[in-house]
Parts: sequence; structure tokens; C-alpha cells
Amino acid sequence: MAVWETIAGWMWYSAIFILSAVLILFACYCLYIKYIHQKYDHIPGPPRKSFLFGHGPIFVEEMKRDRLVHEKFLEWTEKYGPVYRLNVLHYVTVVTVDPEATKEILMSPKYPKDPTVYKRLFNLFGQRFLGNGLVTVADHDLWYKQRRIMDPAFSSSYLRGLMGIFNEKAERLMVKLAEMADKQTPAHMHGLVNCVTLDVITKVAFGVDLDMVNNNNLPFPNAIELCLKGMVYYLRDPMYEFLPWNRKVVQDIKEAAHLLRRTGRAWINERKKAMDNGEDVPKDILTQIFKSAEETKFDDDSQELMLDNFVTFFIAGQETTANQLSFAIMELGKHPEIMKRLKAEVDEVLGKRQEILYEDLGKLTYLSQVLKETLRLYPTAPGTSRWVDDDMVIDGIKIPGGFVVLFDSYITGRLDRFYKDPLTFDPERFAPDAPKPYFCYYPFALGPRSCLGQVFSQMEAKVVMAKLLQRFDYSLAPGQPLDIEDIGTLRPRGGVICRMKQRD
Ligand code: HEM
Repeated sequence: MAVWETIAGWMWYSAIFILSAVLILFACYCLYIKYIHQKYDHIPGPPRKSFLFGHGPIFVEEMKRDRLVHEKFLEWTEKYGPVYRLNVLHYVTVVTVDPEATKEILMSPKYPKDPTVYKRLFNLFGQRFLGNGLVTVADHDLWYKQRRIMDPAFSSSYLRGLMGIFNEKAERLMVKLAEMADKQTPAHMHGLVNCVTLDVITKVAFGVDLDMVNNNNLPFPNAIELCLKGMVYYLRDPMYEFLPWNRKVVQDIKEAAHLLRRTGRAWINERKKAMDNGEDVPKDILTQIFKSAEETKFDDDSQELMLDNFVTFFIAGQETTANQLSFAIMELGKHPEIMKRLKAEVDEVLGKRQEILYEDLGKLTYLSQVLKETLRLYPTAPGTSRWVDDDMVIDGIKIPGGFVVLFDSYITGRLDRFYKDPLTFDPERFAPDAPKPYFCYYPFALGPRSCLGQVFSQMEAKVVMAKLLQRFDYSLAPGQPLDIEDIGTLRPRGGVICRMKQRD
């Protein structure tokens, strides 16, 4: 009996000890947060919702109401100026639209990507996801090595050779749209262009012909959407995965990420077999992914790195372009006078010729303007962030080192300090003789970590748009929502449903 009493006594003391230790640790953490608040509270910013979680609950609230968090950022920029502060736990984020700070930070390799965001995306709810792939890799040397190897697959001479694939895949869409026009079936343009960009990236990057346009039973679009949504929940709401009612969604998201990696493994193995058999393989992105893995030796880690890059290109190389195309189609539907001018340009450059040549792209200047204006109002990948270790002065405010700085091109695109009547869709802003925006237009980010696929995506977008305008008249189906849906990337909520009619 006495033994049991002694054990119970010890357990009781241990419990009290552990509880006291936890309370002391928590009190210390709270003091640390207080210290951080004092250190940065001279920077203007909206009031915090909670001491511990800072502005975090506001983001969660916006997400729950299915509202655009970037609108909130824009509202705060208008209220608090070009530099303001946000807190979540002990993390401090400075949001800025100051062009000089944008230039200094984004153009320099000195400021790494923000580890809280990019390192977190290594996994998605515990399932390895983007890992150390090109978008998320934080280590400068590993990034540089990969980027250098990947560059040849994006050189202008290589891209020129992709025109055949861009034409072929876009042509499939035109055939499909012609059928829909004949049958007077409304066209869900976002879904359709999404299939084209998936067809293009899988063919160009991995040598696989999916024909998504005619085969919409494949699970990839849904898996990509789930992963993107998962990224948002995972980043903006740290409690999301622990709430029992989210268990099913979390499971679905993990399964979607797993599906992409499983697909990657199968396609990589197929390519490896072909290479081992001495077959001729294309010098595509997958070949470069192999090279980059070889440099880090062909061990388990490099296998995982190949899959990281597979998933990175599968997602980064497709969705954002599809969204840009959908927004452009939507805005043209709203602006018949712009559509008319664009058709005149396309008719002049292409006439009735189906095959679009590389040389044609440079002549479609008004189309370039329309695509740029689309990304000003609808930056489909709306921001990037960097870690700043040293003290810095931004717009006259001294900011102690140890903070994240967020650049959001949705805000800069919609501020009247940068653009007159910012909410008006006006491609003239990007006319060849118009003044160039000064570090306030960066839909592809800027500097060393800017988008590798920028030229690729705009070539692809031009081919799809030019063919569409050459062949069809269309109007937006009435009554559909035309606002923006935020699933990490931005896309048109209503899917851009159009009524198609073949041109003469
Ligand atoms: C309209 C289409 C596109 C937009 C708006 C866009 C936008 C962006 C942005 C904003 C970044 C920086 C991301 C960050 O800092 O977190 C980025 C990075 C990247 N994008 Fe794109 N992108 C597009 C299309 C593409 C395509 C088609 C590809 C590939 C075929 C691609 C591949 C990449 C890669 C590999 C990176 C990482 C670059 C690095 O860190 O070295 N993107 N993109």
C-alpha cells in the first residue's frame, strides 16, 4: 500500500512539475511576443485581433467568408500607407509597395525567400510536396545549381522549337469549341483552357500526351486544385489540420499530393528505362530534372528531389497560365471594343492561316498589351516574400532586422498612386510608347527568383488567344459571377462560361 502511495505521490509531484514548466515556458513565450510587439509597433498597421495570434484570425475569417485576402491587404495599404506591419505569434511581416524597397530586395540575391512560407511547403499536412524543388528551395547553392541546369529548357532557341506543340494542343481546343458552337453548348472556358495548359506542360515537360481536352476523366485538374487549396489552408491557418471536422479534407489533400508524386515516380521510371535502353529522349524539362539529380548523385535524396521538381513544374507550369487565359477571355467578353481591335490585329497578322509561327508572336503587340493588363488586374500568382536579416529603412521607417517582407502585386496593380483609374481594364497602359511601370508591376516576381516560365507561358497564352480570336465570336453567359476566387492562385470564380459562335 505504502509503495502505491509513494508512486502516486511522485506522479502527483511530476504532474505539478510538468504543468509549472509548461506555464513558465508559455509565460516566457508571451513575454517574447510582447518584446517583439514593442520592437516593431512603431510601424503603422491595423490593430491586432489577438495578443497571441496577432492578425492571424483576420485571415482565417476572410478565408471562411470566401473573401479575397488581397483585398484586405489593399484596404490596409490605402489606410496605413506603403509600409505596414502584421503579426502572427512572434513572426513579423512587413507589407510594402514602396518601389525602391521592392527594387532593392527583390533584385538582390542577398535576401532569401521567406523560410516560414517556403520551408513549410516542403510538406503538405505531413506528405512531402514541393520539397526542395525550384520554387520552394531556400538554400541558395541548391537553388542556383538547379536553376542553372534548368535554364537550357527555357532558352529562346529551345522555346522556339515548342511552337509545334503549342499549336497542336491549342488546335484540339479549337476543334472542341467548334463542336460546342455547332451544338450551342455553353463552354466552360476555365476548365477548357486548364486542359490545354495541362496538355502542354505534360507534353513539353515530361513527354507525355494526356489529351485532357477530350478526356476529362483524368484526376489531375482536381488533384492540382486540392493541392493549391491545401497550400492556402496549411499556410494561413496553423490549426486547420487539428480540427476533427477538417479530417476528411486534409486526407483528400494528402491523397492528391501523393497522386502527383506517384505519377511523377511512374513517368520518371519510364524515362529512365528509355534512357537505359539507349533510346532517343527529348531534351525536355524531365531530362533537365535528371541532370539536376545526377549532380547530387543518384541516391534516395536525389530521387525525392526529382519528384519535388516534377510536382513543382506540374503545378507552376500550368495553373497560372490557365487562369490568366480565363481572366483575359472574361475581360474581352466585358469589353467588345478591345475584342474588336484584337481580332483586327489577329486577322492582319494571321489571316486564315492555322499554324502560328514564332515570328507571328512578336507582331501580335496589342495581344501582348492585353495579356499584360490582364496580369495587372489579376496577378494569378499574386505575391512573394523575402527574409530580411539586417535593419533596413523603408519609406523613412527604420525596421529592425529579423522580419519577413511581403510583396503583393494584387495591391500594386490596383493602387491609384501607380495607375490612373486602376480598376479600368485598359491595355493602353502597356502600349510600346507608354512609360514602363517602375517596380510596381511584378506578376512574375522580379530578380533572381523570378519566374523561369515567364516567356514560355506568354508564348503559350498568345497561341491560344490568337487561335480563339481568329476562329470565334463569343459572349459571356449572363448571370455568372465574375469575381475572383482565391485558392492561393487567383482564378475567375464563375469559370467564364461563354456562348461560342464560329466566325465566317
Ligand atoms: C501566367 C503564368 C505564370 C505566372 C503569373 C507565374 C508567376 C510566377 C511567380 C510570381 C513566381 C515567383 C513565386 C514565388 O516567389 O513564390 C514564379 C516562379 C516560378 N515559375 Fe512561374 N508563373 C507562370 C507560369 C509558369 C510556367 C508556365 C512555368 C514552367 C513551365 C513556371 C515555372 C516557374 C518556376 C520554376 C518558378 C521558380 C523560379 C525560381 O525560383 O528560380 N511558371 N512564377
